[in-house]
Amino acid sequence: MPVIAAFNSKGGSAKSTAILVLADALARRNATVTVIDTDPQRSIANGREGATTSTVQVVEEQSSTGIHRAIREASERSAFVFIDMAGFTSDMRTPVVSRADLMIVPMQPSPEDARLAARAFALIQSDEETLNRRIDKKILWARTVPNMIQRVERRIMQEINENDIPAFETHLNERSAYKAMVLDAVPLAEVNRDEFNGVEKAIENADRLAAELVEHILAKQGEKAA
Ligand SMILES: Nc1ncnc2c1ncn2[C@@H]1O[C@H](COP(=O)(O)OP(=O)(O)O)[C@@H](O)[C@H]1O
Ligand SMILES: [Mg+2]
Repeated sequence: MPVIAAFNSKGGSAKSTAILVLADALARRNATVTVIDTDPQRSIANGREGATTSTVQVVEEQSSTGIHRAIREASERSAFVFIDMAGFTSDMRTPVVSRADLMIVPMQPSPEDARLAARAFALIQSDEETLNRRIDKKILWARTVPNMIQRVERRIMQEINENDIPAFETHLNERSAYKAMVLDAVPLAEVNRDEFNGVEKAIENADRLAAELVEHILAKQGEKAA
């Protein structure tokens, strides 16, 4: 029951998209998955209003006093618990950091996003100090175009890499299918292939990312057990 949260104070950094994509991909592999939507904007809850065959359970919890219980209950019934966070997290962040196994920081490789993501990492690190607890953190490069990584994007990714901030090898690619999924409020696999292009490519991307996540979690669990 790993607990995986997406955090970045920048709105529009692909947190909710990443959570939906990962949760769906794992549920398609028959894993039990709960997503806790802590964002008052209800991106995840809104994103599930279309007809759906998805087994992902969505729970809404916007109070920092209820979040511990929501995480505990979700962990008891699900193999994977995802937490979607608002850009502005105030009192929600510390309780989430106290329970999460992994904090994913989605970001686009742009100078502005790199600066804001550094702030997100600093906030998580200050919680780690407060809680006296080390937590696993990983960048997720978002909205890159496959086989068309720009020079400026590569430079930013290299610089972050040199600062020893780990990142997923798989990017969350720019795919209109990810937007269509939100537009029609359906899981990725239910996006209308006659209307939107690249659904299969998006599913491939989602599956690869989910596989890397599972591999990473298993490796970390192995380290802990050793
Ligand atoms: N990989 C992607 N491909 C296409 N559109 C994306 C992608 N990631 C995010 N978006 C779009 O960018 C906007 C912000 O994404 P969202 O996941 O809601 O960010 P956040 O939760 O960090 O505020 C949404 O309109 C979303 O559809
Ligand atoms: Mg969001």
